[in-house]
Amino acid sequence: MTHMVSLIGCGFVADLYMRSLQAMDGIEVMGVYDRDSARLSAFCAHWNVPSQPDLASLLDAHPRDGLILNLTNPEAHFEVNRTCLEAGFHVYSEKPLATDLDDAKALHALAEEKSLMLASAPCSVLGEAAQTLGHALRHDVAGTPRLIYAELDDGFVPQAAYSKWMSESGAPWPYEDEFRVGCTLEHAGYYLSWLISWFGSVQSVTAASAETIPDKTGQGPMAPDFATATLFFKNGPVARLTCSIVAPHDHSIRIIGDRGVLGCDAAWDNGAKVHFAKRVTLRRRLMELPFKRRIRIPGTTHPKVKRWGAAAMNFMLGPAEILEAIKTGRSSRLSNDHALHMTEVTLAMQNAGQTGGAQLMTTTAERMEPMPWAL
Ligand SMILES: NC(=O)c1ccc[n+]([C@@H]2O[C@H](COP(=O)([O-])OP(=O)(O)OC[C@H]3O[C@@H](n4cnc5c(N)ncnc54)[C@H](O)[C@@H]3O)[C@@H](O)[C@H]2O)c1
Repeated sequence: MTHMVSLIGCGFVADLYMRSLQAMDGIEVMGVYDRDSARLSAFCAHWNVPSQPDLASLLDAHPRDGLILNLTNPEAHFEVNRTCLEAGFHVYSEKPLATDLDDAKALHALAEEKSLMLASAPCSVLGEAAQTLGHALRHDVAGTPRLIYAELDDGFVPQAAYSKWMSESGAPWPYEDEFRVGCTLEHAGYYLSWLISWFGSVQSVTAASAETIPDKTGQGPMAPDFATATLFFKNGPVARLTCSIVAPHDHSIRIIGDRGVLGCDAAWDNGAKVHFAKRVTLRRRLMELPFKRRIRIPGTTHPKVKRWGAAAMNFMLGPAEILEAIKTGRSSRLSNDHALHMTEVTLAMQNAGQTGGAQLMTTTAERMEPMPWAL
């Protein structure tokens, strides 16, 4: 059986979805729409997929049991998500669901009222590295987890040659939009989704954020380029998450447990190695062993996609999960609650500023079922 997806927005990231789609079986593109007609033509010609002249035509042609991928810029997410839900369609939205918490809550309520699925990227939480860490946590490899350090530092991006970054079908990297939206709204979800999948709800967030490099493009203040948060899980350890486009590149996660440290050095690589450093006492000195043990899930996991630019991720794992949930009538791992909760925590980090202080979260999410191959 073939599953149908339609794409709204076909800029830089849409090419990564198409590259990923080629690794998946049984998913076809029903239609594509972008408000930029030149971009729409270039994309549809490159990938040989059907274009639609406007949003209404795309929705008219889209099947009820299909999935709409909202790949527009963040400030368009709310309107596009709302229009699709109101028309009665399941939606997979690029992050964030909306740039305002009340808007995100309204979308969640609308989806619930209409019994629709509303999921949010990123979907690397369904990938091998995240699932291997989840497997190690469930199997108690490192003992009780006490503290987690998760880094999403991208290097000093304002000095990078970003004006030359181009997607496969010719979309420029949208640097103004990226700087205006900010690296926290863009990236915090990469580790928040993993943490929420393992531990469930964040009860409170103590965060701070700042724009440390003012006037990056000569257009005045932009979003914070640095944010850090201490996350207090309702039933789990404490985690510190940092996002920046300033500090040297570091996408590592370290889970510090009673018996040692579980870790992974890459957030944007589904096949990144997961390792465990056992804690020992050698000649009265306490240390984590420098020779780390590789942790693997036995058997086959999921189709992998070769590295393109900064990412080696299968962007279609999320849509495939939702489509299978629709087909079989089960609930989706990327639940509506997961999407909303991740959005709330992300916005708490982004909006904290210098005086954000402690914030109690108003939404919740359950731990995520592991993938069947990761039990
Ligand atoms: N750039 C990346 O590397 C990357 C990676 C992962 C996720 N994302 C996410 O993907 C989303 C899109 O980012 P991008 O880099 O592709 O941006 P982009 O600017 O390259 O592309 C967005 C496209 O959406 C179109 N669009 C905007 N509003 C629209 C509307 N109302 N109706 C129809 N089309 C509309 C634009 O014309 C543009 O072609 C963002 O949420 C971003 O966070 C980006």
